[in-house]
Amino acid sequence: MVKLVGIAGSIGEQSYNRMLLEFIRDHFKKTVDIEILDINDIPVFNEDEDHDDNPAVHALARKISGANGVILATPEHNHTVPAAMKNVIEWLSNNVHPLDGKAVWIVGASYHTQGSSRAQLHLKQILESPGVNAFVMPGNEFLLSNAKEAFDADGNLKDSGTVGFLESVMKKFLTFMRVIEMLDAPDPKNSHEEDMESKHPVNTTVPDVDMTDPEWVEKAAEKTHAASGGDYVKLDRGLLTVDQLNYFLNSMAGELTFADDNNQFIYYNKKTDAAHMLAPRTPDQAGDPLSAVHPARVVEHVKQVLYALRTGESDVVSMPAQTGPNQHVMHYYRAMRDENRRYRGVNELVIDIMPILKYYLAATGQKLVKDPDAVPMSPITGLDAVTSASKHSDPTKADATSGASASKSVEEKPAADATSGASASKSVEEKPATDTTSGASESTEAVKPAAAEEPIDADALTGASEETSSETGYTSDDDSTPAKKPAAAPKPESESADTDATSGASES
Ligand SMILES: Cc1cc2nc3c(=O)[nH]c(=O)nc-3n(C[C@H](O)[C@H](O)[C@H](O)COP(=O)(O)O)c2cc1C
Repeated sequence: MVKLVGIAGSIGEQSYNRMLLEFIRDHFKKTVDIEILDINDIPVFNEDEDHDDNPAVHALARKISGANGVILATPEHNHTVPAAMKNVIEWLSNNVHPLDGKAVWIVGASYHTQGSSRAQLHLKQILESPGVNAFVMPGNEFLLSNAKEAFDADGNLKDSGTVGFLESVMKKFLTFMRVIEMLDAPDPKNSHEEDMESKHPVNTTVPDVDMTDPEWVEKAAEKTHAASGGDYVKLDRGLLTVDQLNYFLNSMAGELTFADDNNQFIYYNKKTDAAHMLAPRTPDQAGDPLSAVHPARVVEHVKQVLYALRTGESDVVSMPAQTGPNQHVMHYYRAMRDENRRYRGVNELVIDIMPILKYYLAATGQKLVKDPDAVPMSPITGLDAVTSASKHSDPTKADATSGASASKSVEEKPAADATSGASASKSVEEKPATDTTSGASESTEAVKPAAAEEPIDADALTGASEETSSETGYTSDDDSTPAKKPAAAPKPESESADTDATSGASES
């Protein structure tokens, strides 16, 4: 849901402008989540003081940064903006600039007929000044005059015409906000223009912290006063503490990576240390621009994938890879988009497909055998429209998403890949590994169905009983000797009943 914050330019106990904001909040609560911010603890601005020393200013700045847009309800004092409103804006234009590039809608209420019109004009001018640099919605002035008579006892606006006009302006503001949010979206004209140096800060980019700093996470968290530990985080479908979020993400059945739309690698889930990851990442990489984690020779390929996801020519790029004898992983690179369908970065998931394959074979009493008619599989799926790199991956060139060069000989350092450039070559003496977001290099040669060195012994993974072993196996092409029906397939380890353990929802 769109998140807005509202600030009334009054610190009085009773305020018609705060009442107006409360009415807007309640009237639109089904479509917009509006939080009214309190400015009573904001001290009189003093340039000698650093906002760092003032938690109230910080809380305000953080709330504004985290919102899609801002509604300012300004009274009019002496034909202009009252001190309380101006004071807040001075704090928010000195050292911190949360209104920079933010969509703002000005409304106002006053005792008299003008409805704070002069104050609104002056406020617009102040907000468009350098240092504040907000985008104020033009026109559509909402001037609530005779405020004392405008509300009923429950704080609702009495006049339906006024409410109707308010609804039309809110609708315009939501559109205005979407347009403004697109303004700072990086907009490469082609894949070559994908900026791997992360030089197009977006509204979530943490300013003034060196992206390549090995302690980027700690420093950026301090800079943003990020929630941590037991702080609650409101999500679309639930409420978790930061600790719970970590438990949840670190226990995912796959490795996750987040690179934002400014091509900055900003998160991965720490499931285990790099040496034991499918696509290794190291803590010092978090925060890095993608250029910092990729050898130059793979950059063009990485750009092609990012561009395909950014432009919507592909919403998912997937890439299978072999990372060891009998270890095959799948990389999924999925475009992330916000409620306005704006590209917000790439979500990478790396999963070990072997347990799934072994469970499937055991459950269906099948085994893998060499398929003489096997057709080499394209190393990358979902990119054909843009690069065709996936079709004819030039062995001398690293593959589009993974940056791995198929021609890599084992001894050569594997190429890095799309979102964190880590090289994943496990110290096993087999083909180099590659993945798109971690720089792990994997062979990009066409993935041929693995010759079943031996019938899959299901129970290693799912506890399927031995007797389902190969002699009753199933060839890759099932119209040959139909297999004897194997013993009942073992249930997947975790699920005893066909209900979902966490929500109890029945899956049958
Ligand atoms: C110092 C002062 C100056 C004011 N000047 C104006 C003015 O220039 N124009 C106006 O319409 N109302 C003026 N008013 C009346 C405000 O409209 C009225 O106080 C209004 O309630 C302020 O909004 P609030 O209730 O949200 O604080 C003034 C009020 C004060 C206390």
